[in-house]
Amino acid sequence: MKVKELSIEDLEPLEFIDEKVKEITSIVGENVAVNAMSGGVDSSTVTMLAHRALGKNLKTYFIDSGLMREGEPENVASIFRRLGVSIEIVEAKDVFFNNLKGVEDPEEKRNVITNVFYKKVFGRILKEQNAHFLFHGTNFTDVEETVAGIKRQHNILEQLGTDPEKEYGYKVLEPLVRIRKTGVRMVAEALGLPENVYNRMPFPGPALAARVIGEVTPEKVNIVRKATKVVEEELHETKAFQYLAILHQDKVTGMRNNKRAFGNQIEVRCWDSRDAVIGSPTRLPYDTLERIADQITSEIPEVVSVTYNITKKPPSTIEAI
Ligand code: XMP
Repeated sequence: MKVKELSIEDLEPLEFIDEKVKEITSIVGENVAVNAMSGGVDSSTVTMLAHRALGKNLKTYFIDSGLMREGEPENVASIFRRLGVSIEIVEAKDVFFNNLKGVEDPEEKRNVITNVFYKKVFGRILKEQNAHFLFHGTNFTDVEETVAGIKRQHNILEQLGTDPEKEYGYKVLEPLVRIRKTGVRMVAEALGLPENVYNRMPFPGPALAARVIGEVTPEKVNIVRKATKVVEEELHETKAFQYLAILHQDKVTGMRNNKRAFGNQIEVRCWDSRDAVIGSPTRLPYDTLERIADQITSEIPEVVSVTYNITKKPPSTIEAI
């Protein structure tokens, strides 16, 4: 693997920030650069680093893929507006859903998302802005998992032999590629980002598409989005590393209004982990699990079954896709 890890023992956040700001300034110079922002801790940290280096020459975009959680685009844009960074929300629901039509295989799904994201959406934006650089919040674990063949993380290009300059017409800059999530959080705090950003729970680049098994449709995303809201509200206080809801492809027989209802199944996962490399399911109180099941099945009529994952990573992974 070409990239070398910078461990948290060797990371000095203020020095790291200084070094990255200088590096970005020298690479981009007086040109305009585009920044892909999802609101996660990685891309938020990149946004602040690049904003410090480039100021108004940094154009930050939040892509509304239709795969995000409830209210996410607006929430992210308002947090950063308060920090003096303006973010443009780009409407891209149709292009994502059209390209995901009929795609069931998990790796193919991730590949489609990568292509739509980098080629169709950012290809157009960088052309319009006459920009040659795209910032991205790739971290060391993303690269490691992809190279190891565990999962194709949506943001890995060069490590998989894709030359972004040849394929998409621009260079990708990844200032966080040598550090893991814990290190990113340290840098984010040192950059003065608010606590709700530097301690933000991880969320995958392919967003809710990583949590729908089988074909991703607006209807299925809508179900998993509602279940995600319940799970996040109920488990927020646990301070677990990550918690999520997954929509299964198989249906099961349930009951609605004393009649048979062949409905959907939601799987809940809640992880104890340090950096997502390994993890174990949090031993949640049974009452909490019961509350989640009651709430999901009463708020989402399409769902008739809720389960809790009790498998460690490995052999499980954190997301379902
Ligand atoms: P897995 O599911 O591989 O996830 O155990 C490990 C961590 O990475 C997040 N994740 C992603 N993050 N792009 C990302 O930026 C991706 O394609 C992606 N897939 C998974 C996941 O949420 C977990 O924190």
